[in-house]
Formats: sequence, C-alpha cells, structure tokens
Amino acid sequence: MAKAAARYACQSCGATWPRWSGRCEACGAWNTIVEEAPRDSTPKGLGGKRGRTIDLEPIAGKTAPIVRRPTGNAEFDRVSGGGLVPGSALLIGGDPGIGKSTLLLQIANAVAARGDTRVCYITGEESVEQVQMRARRLDLAAPGVALAAATSVRDILGALDRTDPPALAVIDSIQTMFVDTLDSAPGTVAQVRGAAAELIRVAKQRGFALVLVGHVTKEGQIAGPRVLEHMVDTVLYFEGERGHQFRILRAVKNRFGPANEIGVFEMTDAGLMAVENPSFLFLGERGDPISGTAVFAGLEGTRPLLVEIQALVAPSALATPRRAVVGWDSGRLAMLLAVLEARCGVVLAGKDVYLNVAGGLRIIEPAADLAVAAALVSAGFDRPVPADMVFFGEVGLGGEVRAVSQPDLRLREAAKLGFRRAAMPPRSKGRATATAGLAIEEFRHLSELAGRIAQDTRRAVRQSG
Ligand code: TYD
Ligand code: MG
Repeated sequence: MAKAAARYACQSCGATWPRWSGRCEACGAWNTIVEEAPRDSTPKGLGGKRGRTIDLEPIAGKTAPIVRRPTGNAEFDRVSGGGLVPGSALLIGGDPGIGKSTLLLQIANAVAARGDTRVCYITGEESVEQVQMRARRLDLAAPGVALAAATSVRDILGALDRTDPPALAVIDSIQTMFVDTLDSAPGTVAQVRGAAAELIRVAKQRGFALVLVGHVTKEGQIAGPRVLEHMVDTVLYFEGERGHQFRILRAVKNRFGPANEIGVFEMTDAGLMAVENPSFLFLGERGDPISGTAVFAGLEGTRPLLVEIQALVAPSALATPRRAVVGWDSGRLAMLLAVLEARCGVVLAGKDVYLNVAGGLRIIEPAADLAVAAALVSAGFDRPVPADMVFFGEVGLGGEVRAVSQPDLRLREAAKLGFRRAAMPPRSKGRATATAGLAIEEFRHLSELAGRIAQDTRRAVRQSG
C-alpha cells in the first residue's frame, strides 16, 4: 500500500500545502505552517470499538434564560444586546489609539459602580500608574475596580481562576499576553490563540464576563488569527476617523443579540460620551444647499441614522481620473458611476470623483446607493438637491431602484429632524408605508432621479434667464 504523503496545514487560515514553508501563501502569515499526520488513504471507519453514547437533548429543553448584566453604559449595552453575559467572552477590536482602553476603563468603572461587584482590569500595555492617572483624569473611582499590569496568562489565571471570581475581567490587549507552554513570542498567532483559549475556558468555568481587547492590522483584521473571532461569543469593532472626535462601536457578531447594532460616542477630554442623537452629528452644519450633497436616511442595526453624503466632481488632468472614497465602498462607487453612464446618460468618465460620508461614519448599507447617486448627479450638474429632502434606495445594475428594509423607520427619523421630502423606491401596493407627514417622491429608475435633478437645472436656467 502506498504511504500517504505528509500534509502541511496553515494554523491561521487552514490552507494545506504539499511541503513546509515559512510563510503561508494563502494568508501571508509567517510560521504558521505545521505538519499534520497523514490520514490513512483506505477508509476503515473507526473500527469495531464503540464510543460512549452521547446524550441527545430535545430542542425545547429547559435551560435557564441568558442573564444579561447591563453595564450602565447605555450605548455599550445597546450594542452588546443588553449588557454583559456572565461566562461569555467578548472581543473588542480597533485601531491603536482609537479609545479602546478608555472605553473599557469607563465600562469597568460603571459595572463596579452598579453594585457590590468586583472588576479586574488587566493591562499588558501600560503600567498601573498610567491607568490610575487616566482614571483620575476621567474621574473614575469605583472602589470595586482592581488594576494589574501583567502579561503571563498563568499569573493572570491565578487571580481569576478562583471560587469567588470577579464579575468582569478586562484583558488589554490579547496581543501582549503569553502562555509559557508555547515557544513563540507574544502577539503571534499561536500565542494569541493559546492565551485566548485559556482565558475563555476559565471565564466559562467560573462564570465571569471576559472582555478581550484586540488590535487591528492595517488590513482591518484583528491582528493574527481570524480564529479569535470564532472563539468568542461577541465581536465588537470600535471605529472612527482619527481626525474626528466621533467613535462608532459596532457589533459584527453576537451570539446573544442582534449584530450590526451601533453605538455612537464622542471623544472628549472627559472620556467617551454617549451621543444621544447621532443624526444631528452626521448631518454636519447644514447651511444653504450646495451642489453635491444629499442626505441619506440610513439604518444601523435597529437605529435610524441620517448622514450627509458629499460628492465632488472636478475636471481631471490625469489619463486615469481619480476616484477617492471615504466612508463607503469604492467598488460600489465604480458600479454606480457605470450605471449612471450606461443607463442614465450621466457621463463622469473624464472627471475626478471624490465621495465622502460626513462625520467619519462608514456606511455598509446598499440602501445608500440612491443618496450617493443623487450627490454624484448633483455634483455633476452643479445643481443642489432640495435641502429638505432625504434619499434611500438600492440601485441595481439595470438602473432600477429597489426597495430597502424599514422605510417607515427612516421616514420617521427624517420627519423628526425637520425634513419634508423623501426620494425613495416605489412602495409596495399591499403594504402601506406610514409617510410620517413627508412628501414622497417615488423613483422606479435611476434615470428618473437624474432627470429630476437635471430638470431642476433647466428650470433654474429659465428663471435666471
Ligand atoms: P486609548 O483608549 O488609549 O486607545 P486604545 O486603547 O484604543 O489604543 O485612547 C487614546 C486616545 O484617546 C489618545 O490619543 C488620547 C485620547 N483621549 C482623549 O481624547 N480624551 C480622554 O479623556 C482620553 C482618556 C483619551
Ligand atoms: Mg490601549
């Protein structure tokens, strides 16, 4: 019988290779490829030996409902689906300096301040004095918060793996932690995974909530292993533009609640403050209408959010005109420009196009298509869209405008903020959409919207002439 060849598998992405190499070609990680024992090529099953029979349970079994402990930080509680769950692990990722440590210190303090609970905040990045200094500056002084500077998981578990564990343990950050049974340096795939696995195991066993901080690489992934995302129950990203004071906490995975929920904070000298009405903030200072801006009535999780989309179209001196996007997907912009050209006759091919989402928010919803298109057409014709109008709707490759979820919620938010008109996809016949008092303009096709903006141009020309 032919001997089965050895197989080499990347421990970071799972790709397999016929031979060992220092770097995985599939994911680019270094030193993650290890030999795996060859599998026998002739399947024999498991042989005659029987395993212990596992117990199978009915789906409608009686389990205790998940307990959530609200932290008292309203924005964090909303994003995490109602607070921290004892015995669960939460990963919070974000760029260095975005405010993760600040947020978690505030949350640790809020949890401890709520009752007679103990909270452990363990830092591998700063000294205890530095954290104390920050706490003093932020006026955080709940007696239940215990600080430690440590990086050895074995030492840390000495403080956590006990019969009276704290209610919450914060590990800042997982990239600085190490397990002494592994040879690799802290921050490597193996260490990050090993340290996280140990901490999560103890959190589940002892029933405390574990929060891990993870730094994000330039590519936008939590450094090292994506596997960390699979190991924890909840993954939150803390994002924002450096130059802006606004920060968005976004749930990307949540076993205990809805994903895609966002919380909005403002970074001030007194720490991170919850922003009660974020629509105000992303609308910016709206004065006289200028061409190239359109307000998108968006939805982040369950929360409606109005954001200003800004476009600038300028003659290009380059052979390949510039396309620069902040806060939106550049592939989606290319698609919309192509649809505008091919289906609506709005040609921006020889022009530089800049697109910006005001306030530093990142929009993922395809429902923003109509607002982006309106901003582009408005910039292209140098004609403002009505200042009291909001836009939402997805645009297909044929130029058709498609329905999006929750129009009522979007309209209500727009009405609340003083808008009086809405440009949206055709409403379905059967279901009545509450218009919240707004005048609705339905667009079946993107060319109708482009025509509407162009018509305004002609009307304006006639008036001035
Ligand atoms: P930090 O929480 O240390 O970021 P991370 O842990 O994600 O690396 O936040 C650092 C930044 O926040 C730093 O540039 C200063 C700013 N900051 C404020 O503006 N106000 C404050 O009250 C605090 C504590 C920090
Ligand atoms: Mg930090």
